Amino acid sequence: MLDQVKLEIDEYGLVRTNIPVFSDIELRAALVTFVKRTWDYRKTYLQKELKVAFDGYSYLGQEDSLNQYSFDQLHSFVISDLLPYSSFPKEFHTFLLQEWEPMVQFLTGLQELLLRKFNIEHLKGELRNNMGYMASCNYYPSLSDKKIKGQRLSTHRDVSFFTVFPFGLDRGLVMQKDGQKQNVGVMERVFAFPGYMAEVMTEGKIKALDHYVEESKRPNKERFSFAFFSIPRPEAVINFPKGEMDGKDYYKQYLSLF
Ligand SMILES: [Fe+2]
Repeated sequence: MLDQVKLEIDEYGLVRTNIPVFSDIELRAALVTFVKRTWDYRKTYLQKELKVAFDGYSYLGQEDSLNQYSFDQLHSFVISDLLPYSSFPKEFHTFLLQEWEPMVQFLTGLQELLLRKFNIEHLKGELRNNMGYMASCNYYPSLSDKKIKGQRLSTHRDVSFFTVFPFGLDRGLVMQKDGQKQNVGVMERVFAFPGYMAEVMTEGKIKALDHYVEESKRPNKERFSFAFFSIPRPEAVINFPKGEMDGKDYYKQYLSLF
């Protein structure tokens, strides 16, 4: 499948492919069903309960999430292969048991093409041996009855080496670079961009893409996004240009950006 792939990098570092998007039906249903469960159920899956990397639930308004601010307008659930599937709520089990493994195979193949495209193929072995995958499943509810203004998700760069959107994307994502910004728009092909780890591993030759989700122009409309990240396993010791660091220390370095 990946033999015919074409990749194009734009001036922001966003990589557009010609790969048709995968279906998000299963994962979207899992996320919606989970968010509608009782608070007593949801709270047992908070990040402080799962305790590994960024895995777990962050709710709209939460003060102590690792991956969103209290004023961001979403619920998110991070699933990964850093924990056994049974650690996650049952709503996600069908996806994890049936779709996770083929997705990871696809992402691993795509990552190798991305490494070649960015001329950093020498990092392939280091990444293969030390990286896992996580998926940030994001649900931005309709805002019809609230007067919430401003960005739906604040400007940030990702913790990933590469972030991939295998399901494409609804409108709202904006990229930023050198004071310029550009709407990504609706994406009907798989696309990707570099995260902070790519920047650190290449000593800034590749820049992490800064991005945010803009204020909704259609507040009655809910929004979903599913971003897949390659990230170091917590215990893996990685050869960064400035010395060895394990996954957990890398997460700390990343979180100190905020
Ligand atoms: Fe992001």
